[in-house]
Amino acid sequence: MSLVPYFNDLSFYSDPSAHKSRYASLVKSFKSNFPDDKIEFFARSPGRVNLIGDHIDYNYFPVLPMAIEVDVVAAVSTNDSSFIIISNTDSDKFPQEKVAIGQDSDFVIDREHHTWANYFKCGLIVAAKFLQEKSGEGKYKLKGMNITFSGIVPTGGGLSSSAAFCVASTLAVLHANGVKEISKADLTRITVVSEHYLGLNNGGMDQCASVYGEQGKALFIEFQPQLKGTPFEFPVKNLTFVITNSLQVSNKYETAPIHYNLRVVEMAIAGDLLAKKLGVEGKPGIARDSNVDTYSLRGVMEGYCGPWDGENLKEGAAKLSKMIDVVSKTLTEKKGYTVEQCCKELGITAEEFHLKYLEKIPVKFDVLKLYQRSLHVYRESLRVLQTLQLLSSPVEDESKFFQAFGSLMNESQHDLDVLNESSNSKLNEICAIALDNGAYGSRVTGAGWGGSIVHLTSTENLPRLTSSLIDTYYKREFPQIKEEEIQEAVIDSKPATGSCLLSAEIIDKLVN
Ligand code: GLA
Repeated sequence: MSLVPYFNDLSFYSDPSAHKSRYASLVKSFKSNFPDDKIEFFARSPGRVNLIGDHIDYNYFPVLPMAIEVDVVAAVSTNDSSFIIISNTDSDKFPQEKVAIGQDSDFVIDREHHTWANYFKCGLIVAAKFLQEKSGEGKYKLKGMNITFSGIVPTGGGLSSSAAFCVASTLAVLHANGVKEISKADLTRITVVSEHYLGLNNGGMDQCASVYGEQGKALFIEFQPQLKGTPFEFPVKNLTFVITNSLQVSNKYETAPIHYNLRVVEMAIAGDLLAKKLGVEGKPGIARDSNVDTYSLRGVMEGYCGPWDGENLKEGAAKLSKMIDVVSKTLTEKKGYTVEQCCKELGITAEEFHLKYLEKIPVKFDVLKLYQRSLHVYRESLRVLQTLQLLSSPVEDESKFFQAFGSLMNESQHDLDVLNESSNSKLNEICAIALDNGAYGSRVTGAGWGGSIVHLTSTENLPRLTSSLIDTYYKREFPQIKEEEIQEAVIDSKPATGSCLLSAEIIDKLVN
């Protein structure tokens, strides 16, 4: 069982000295917020970039992300009050807030009143549930806490700033309440659903990547039969990624009914429709396990093609290829399904349809693009397995390796744009600029509809790629952009250590 690590210094960063001044500012900010307190420990969780496999995690297909060095760090002290006070080094954007802690874990999140404390509450809720779970019938009382956060994952940048923040919050609450050791598996399991309390029905990729990250390694993340992350190294030394923030903020929560959650619902309905048409309904061992309590697209595949252990890549690829073929023949309304058409095919009334599919997660749509969305899921999942196969085979010809990896990323971008409709013309333009200037593959990473692009390149091509993106995208698109804003938009893509706890001993080591 692998535990969330505990460090006494900053050696888990690739360049520890580069982070000292930031920690020193965090300590200073904590002292000015809470002059009578001493920091007892730090809890830290990183953001992630997904290399390939988007909008498939909530269908339980494996993905290939890595944790990155931008992260959220919480400096924490505990007390016996009935409050948790959260503050931030960026107090203009995130002013101090006070969260009351009662006897039970029933904290209220007011979705209408959007504040950063809501994200903290998400982390707090799942931590409190875990503490309750551990104490069994016994009573437990949450500790009061004073916290100052420092976050450098760009918000709305598609690099899962919210997951990094929620996981760091959960870890802080657990440690403050005496959980000295927690397994990566438990921390992932409990935090995967944390943002569901805010109404975003995400899958588990972001939290899993944030927890399981390891320096210099990418992750193969599986959701079934078991949620786990397996770190692995790249087979080629001069491979590098560049992450560029498009600076088009993607607000996942506000746009959820027309974007992210709508995909979740479309794929869930596709799951039920395929299950019905392919005779998977009611088959033993195939659960209605989607976020909408329907058949998931993974479940449909296993029901139709037989069980898959998630590890045999050849077998998985054969089943996915079969599903790609079947989807095209089975979901015939290529222009999209109206509610009436869905009802007719599912053999239910409009009222039943609303109750079953549209009640739990509110969405807005003209038609439901069931064919396009499920085709995207099976094709993207196949590409993940092909990428993993490529990355785990010996490389004989580096140039062919780069071409092959890049093509898989480019095909992914094509499907995200055309089938999943989570890209847009500006994001496509960034990919095109990159491909003309030294990138082998470029794709939108994470949820999309804005956010960041990940580019695959070589160390030799890196300077040309970065400078052309700066000149051709940033300086043209944002003529007033400042040098430091550009620096922040081109993000360090080194694979980083996952969530961890840090002792207060690091404070003395920050001075020199
Ligand atoms: C967001 C979600 C993830 C995943 C990606 C798209 O980051 O939080 O669970 O679905 O979008 O792949």
